[in-house]
Amino acid sequence: MNTHTLLTTPAWQVLQHLYKTHASKLDVRALLQKNLSQTVHMCISAPEMVADLSRNLLDTSIIAALNQLARERGVEAMRDDMFHGQKVNVTEQRAALHYLLRWPDENTHTALQKQSHDVPAQVAQSELAFKESSNAPLNVPSNLQSTLQDVLKTRSAMLAFAESIRQNAHITDVVNIGIGGSDLGPQLAIQALDAFRLGDNPADHKFQPKRFHFVSSLDPQELMSVLRQVRPQSTFFLVASKSFTTLETMTNARAAKAWFLAEGGTDVARHFVALSTNTQAAADFGISTCFGFWDWVGGRYSLWSSIGLSVAIAIGAKHFQDMLAGAHAMDQHFASTPLERNLPVQLALLDVWYRNFHGMGSRCVAPYAFGLRRLPAYLQQLEMESNGKRVDQQGRAVPYRTATVVWGEPASNGQHAFFQMLHQGTDVIPVEFLVVKQPSPNLPSYMAQHHPDLLANALAQAQALTQGVTSSLGGRDVTAHREMPGNRPSTTLLLDVLTPNSLGALIALYEHRVFVQATLWGINPFDQYGVESGKKIAQQMVEIIKGNSVIDLNADDSSKKMFSMLGKNSDSG
Ligand code: F6P
Repeated sequence: MNTHTLLTTPAWQVLQHLYKTHASKLDVRALLQKNLSQTVHMCISAPEMVADLSRNLLDTSIIAALNQLARERGVEAMRDDMFHGQKVNVTEQRAALHYLLRWPDENTHTALQKQSHDVPAQVAQSELAFKESSNAPLNVPSNLQSTLQDVLKTRSAMLAFAESIRQNAHITDVVNIGIGGSDLGPQLAIQALDAFRLGDNPADHKFQPKRFHFVSSLDPQELMSVLRQVRPQSTFFLVASKSFTTLETMTNARAAKAWFLAEGGTDVARHFVALSTNTQAAADFGISTCFGFWDWVGGRYSLWSSIGLSVAIAIGAKHFQDMLAGAHAMDQHFASTPLERNLPVQLALLDVWYRNFHGMGSRCVAPYAFGLRRLPAYLQQLEMESNGKRVDQQGRAVPYRTATVVWGEPASNGQHAFFQMLHQGTDVIPVEFLVVKQPSPNLPSYMAQHHPDLLANALAQAQALTQGVTSSLGGRDVTAHREMPGNRPSTTLLLDVLTPNSLGALIALYEHRVFVQATLWGINPFDQYGVESGKKIAQQMVEIIKGNSVIDLNADDSSKKMFSMLGKNSDSG
């Protein structure tokens, strides 16, 4: 990577100058009025989606300087390093090869192309299909060929297994036990792809779709509330953990196994499956079927691996492959589209512009699609665990801010909660609207009729944030209380329809955006040492709380006070 620190790159100086001279006073309303061609230019197509960036605090000079910044920070070289299998995860000395997990299997690829007539008509007619032309297609370099063969072999075994469970009418419930990346991705995907659970094949329809449950919390209330709804003989447990040591997951897995046996369940081996890189630990737990993956898959990038087994059971092998294909199309876009039209790059540049120049501390994610209701939580892990870092790749403290707070709720619920603050609060918070053009397939018409309202609300909120309501704009009787300043930035990501392909593309878009943010900031997005310390302290504290020990030499005075309020002795009593 370029050895210039971020702050001394020429492009940074230009951006600072632009910010001081005019960018901080930029009024998007004026730009939208006078320059339709620029507005059109600010729509970027990528696989399965179009992004409208025209409501952002940008003009052509700022965009040019941001793109220059990407060049000076070596975004293209870092991206190519990742796609060539270099050890871009410098602290753990590993490559980051999650994109290999969605590499098409040439054998199934042709079959899938032949099956394209199976997709619902509305999906096939997608107007937002991959329109953006690319430079050169992505290839797997020779050093990664054997890894790819491993990936394809594991995928095909996992998908065959998923189909067997999917078609097993005796299994009515699937419980995924996992946390973080071993929970959020599968949960998001199963909710988002609910319409695809029955499959295209009418033969599948004779089976009732299974119920899917997710257990992640250490609080047993969550596990208990799931176990109350299921029976051992018809339930299938997936213990999803890359490390197979995570406290929450192991505790819940042990409790689920105890419940299974106590409730008369027989044959743990048939009802429990592990998804892990730690096959030995899974075997020690008593699980004989384990689908593995690799240490080069970060937990928050693992949806595409065996961790996605619950998704494959829910939507079937073909739709799972479609999800991978959507993500792969986004990989191609990222790898080969010029920076100026490269959507992950443009979104990451915008993030840096708002974070480091405008000082904005958060971004609101507003999916106007119920299926995407876990997207904000998913992105919290992806962005904040990846880029919540304070030192650069060489371990030097960075003199600028990094990851922003990501938060949100599915709208229009958010409109009835926090949108007030977005419109009139003292903080300016960029909003990301996720809008799906077509209603979810298979809805009765009286429900599909909700969709125009949903679309109108998304569009209306975006416009209201931009335009505001001010007396200076001719609004009569606009008192200070009713005034909305406007000029509040937002981006709209428009999907044609929520399908396995578009969901895959969307998630891969965010993965690459986070990678580009990290490259611009010079930090490593692939480790997460920050979460370790608290876990270690908890191991000592639990001994005090259980009464096994009265001495915690590392407890500080505040913790000692809490021990005492909990009626537990520590060294100070
Ligand atoms: O504590 C953070 C973390 O390591 C995440 O990165 C990961 O997704 C999660 O815990 C779960 O880890 P595992 O899949 O190993 O149980």
